[in-house]
Amino acid sequence: MKGMDNEGKTRDHSLTVTTELVLPNDANLLGNLLGGRLLHWIDIAGALAASRHSGGIVATIRMDPVEFKHPIYVGNIVSLTSYVTWTGRTSIETAVDTYAEDVLTEEKRFINKIYLIFVALDQNGAKRITPPLIPKTDEERREWAEAAARRGKK
Ligand SMILES: CC(C)(COP(=O)(O)OP(=O)(O)OC[C@H]1O[C@@H](n2cnc3c(N)ncnc32)[C@H](O)[C@@H]1OP(=O)(O)O)[C@@H](O)C(=O)NCCC(=O)NCCS
Repeated sequence: MKGMDNEGKTRDHSLTVTTELVLPNDANLLGNLLGGRLLHWIDIAGALAASRHSGGIVATIRMDPVEFKHPIYVGNIVSLTSYVTWTGRTSIETAVDTYAEDVLTEEKRFINKIYLIFVALDQNGAKRITPPLIPKTDEERREWAEAAARRGKK
């Protein structure tokens, strides 16, 4: 099966692309996407990757601090690429890369990269063990090492 490696799974297994269209109801009075709406989309995108990796239910336990330095406008297409960067026993770190695209000019802008932690849960809401992530490339090993350093783990 795609992305399976013995007991563990590769990044490919969790890689998820979510696409949203910014509508007037998503925006403030200047026509800029609301920060809370983007956070919601980021949370869902991260959860999809963590859920695909772990093969079940996950709950968000942490979202890294977020800065909104680049406005996104009504009519933009927002794409969120999410994937697992690190796994612990029951916890899973995901990264979500957000881009905004102007359909008229086809300009695509990088907005931000956010790390979130999810905990794998069973049907009763109890914590469950997650399959480990198997980093394959130098970039995936670098992401793993950086995540471990953020968590104070090896
Ligand atoms: C998810 C939940 C069941 C976990 O239970 P818990 O007793 O708090 O969990 P623990 O302290 O045992 O930690 C579980 C894992 O999360 C990790 N973790 C806990 N707090 C963390 C934090 N602030 N940052 C990063 N990792 C954290 C632990 O290191 C552990 O990882 P490991 O199993 O890989 O070693 C519980 O916190 C919960 O229900 N939270 C609410 C989730 C939710 O509703 N989220 C939506 C937003 S409201």
